[in-house]
Amino acid sequence: MTLLSIRNLQVRFPLPEGTVHALDGVDLSLGEKERLALIGETGSGKTVLGRAIVRLLPPGAHVRGEIWYEKTDLLTLPPGEMRKIRGREIAIVLQNPANSLNPVLKVGNQIKEAVQARWRIARRPAYREALNFLQKVGLPERAAASYPHQLSGGMRQRALLALGLALHPRLLIADEPTKGLDSPLRAQIVRLLQEATKEAGQALILITHDLAAARELADTLAVMYAGQIVEYGRAKDIFAHARHPYTRGLLASHPSLGLKPIPGFAPSLTHLPPGCRFHPRCTAVREVCRREVPPLSEIKPGHKVRCHYCSS
Ligand SMILES: Nc1ncnc2c1ncn2[C@@H]1O[C@H](COP(=O)(O)OP(=O)(O)OP(=O)(O)O)[C@@H](O)[C@H]1O
Ligand SMILES: [Mg+2]
Repeated sequence: MTLLSIRNLQVRFPLPEGTVHALDGVDLSLGEKERLALIGETGSGKTVLGRAIVRLLPPGAHVRGEIWYEKTDLLTLPPGEMRKIRGREIAIVLQNPANSLNPVLKVGNQIKEAVQARWRIARRPAYREALNFLQKVGLPERAAASYPHQLSGGMRQRALLALGLALHPRLLIADEPTKGLDSPLRAQIVRLLQEATKEAGQALILITHDLAAARELADTLAVMYAGQIVEYGRAKDIFAHARHPYTRGLLASHPSLGLKPIPGFAPSLTHLPPGCRFHPRCTAVREVCRREVPPLSEIKPGHKVRCHYCSS
């Protein structure tokens, strides 16, 4: 069954120097228990998409389109109703969690209170649950009795992951949960997300540059470039046989393995090139690519590509 269905989502930031087209015509759906990884170079719109789903974009953002969570278009919900969905149904673990934790509450108490509010259980079991999840994300015991500012940025993000997981949401959106972690800790977080999804059946949107984590965790993959989805399909298929020249470059460009990034730069989102947004960097560019915007077309069941070259 479909849990989330995003239709023609547009997010713009009007700035004095021009309008930033951060997301343009994003269509995406996610089934119950499905695990989707969102990948793409920096600035491609991954975080904006994650935040748009839970309506946590900065006030200046102009949002259009539809975000259906089961039978509700989240974009039409009053703020109070949206707050009820956030945390209970959908939790997001943000990339820069500076403002996501309450600065005047100790971390353990904060998670305890959220768990209590969510499950209406007593203080003690809720606190035990908080400690349990803090341990699962690899934080030392003292973290529970610390204020957020006493933890490093990385530790705060893991505390937020502990909070997200302790709420057992139906959909967890995790933005770069493995970033900057050493390899045992990274493996621990991947295992934890496996547990939350495979065993507990939560759906996951994993936003990541960690292609190995995407490979391990994702059922489906959405590849983003300059505010659009350019390739979408089963993760297995795309890892085995990516079709879009951008995806191919991205999958071959693992800097940690000493492989080269894609030459050139992503376009400015205030001055987008005509035609295919990737054409200035594309090795397979043809005349039509400079003129016509390619649609995201299905090249075989469940596999979509936004490319004149691949779909013809
Ligand atoms: N508040 C804002 N005002 C103006 N532009 C913004 C704002 N927030 C994001 N953007 C722009 O939207 C685009 C997408 O940003 P986003 O943070 O979603 O990228 P990302 O794919 O998450 O990148 P990264 O991999 O580095 O996290 C960027 O060009 C960014 O500059
Ligand atoms: Mg981001």
